[in-house]
Formats: sequence, C-alpha cells, structure tokens
Amino acid sequence: KTIHILNGPNLNLLGKRQPEIYGHDTLDSIAATCKALGQELGLDVALFQSNHEGTIVDQIQTARATADGIILNPAAYTHSSVAILDALLAFDGPVIEVHLSNIHKRETFRHHSYVSRRADAVIAGCGAQGYSLALRHMATLLD
Ligand code: DQA
Repeated sequence: KTIHILNGPNLNLLGKRQPEIYGHDTLDSIAATCKALGQELGLDVALFQSNHEGTIVDQIQTARATADGIILNPAAYTHSSVAILDALLAFDGPVIEVHLSNIHKRETFRHHSYVSRRADAVIAGCGAQGYSLALRHMATLLD
C-alpha cells in the first residue's frame, strides 16, 4: 500500500524556522525516517511539500488514484482552507492530520482546523515524531 505525506507552506524551512516551536529536524530527515519506517510496516511512503494551496489540492486529487492513505500537515492552510477540506472529502481512504506543535496551546487563530472535519485522527504537539506515530496508526487503519 502507498501513503502520501503532504506538507503545506513553510515546512520546507523545517529545522531553520522557529526551531523552538517546530524543532530541529528537517523535512528531508523526516522523509528518510518515514520511508524507513514504511519499509518496516510494509508501506510505500512518498513525501511532498508545497507552499501553494492549489498545488496541495492537486496533490490530494492525484492521491485519489495513487495513494491508499494521506498523512497531511496543511500548516497555515489548516486554519483557512475550505479548498483543501473539499479535496480531502473527495478522497476515499484514511486521512491523518499532523501538526508538529500543539496548535491548541498557541494563538486562538490556530485552534480551529478545517481539515479536522475530514481527519480520521489528529496528532499535534509530538514534533517530528508525530509523522511516525501517524504512519504507525495508518498501518493499523489499513490492516
Ligand atoms: C503547523 C501549525 C500551524 O498553525 C502553522 O501555521 C504551521 C505548522 C504545525 O505543524 O505545528 O505552519 O501545522
């Protein structure tokens, strides 16, 4: 089975961007960890990142035909994007939402997630490890 891990705006700067909030791991190191864990779990893992809302919508539409499950950190679009929610509503497999930080502990504008309406599970506040936790849960959902 194939899992797409989609990442939204500014996550390309992971490791350099507000490390006190988002940690020191880079997106490349998260990709390597997830690919290795995927092998252990018998899952093919592909990771994508885009700073553009429409590109993320396109990636979710592509996943309809090419992925069994989606793990998604929509970053700032979490709190604003009905378009990303709608794209996910057209995807049939499991969806897990990940945030490195605990969005509920932060500014009020980060407390609401459009994506959570469609997410089967939400992981927030576990840092980079959240992606691994999501992948393990995805394996049980697809079992
Ligand atoms: C984030 C939380 C969002 O509020 C923020 O805009 C991000 C990253 C997280 O992973 O903690 O860019 O999704």
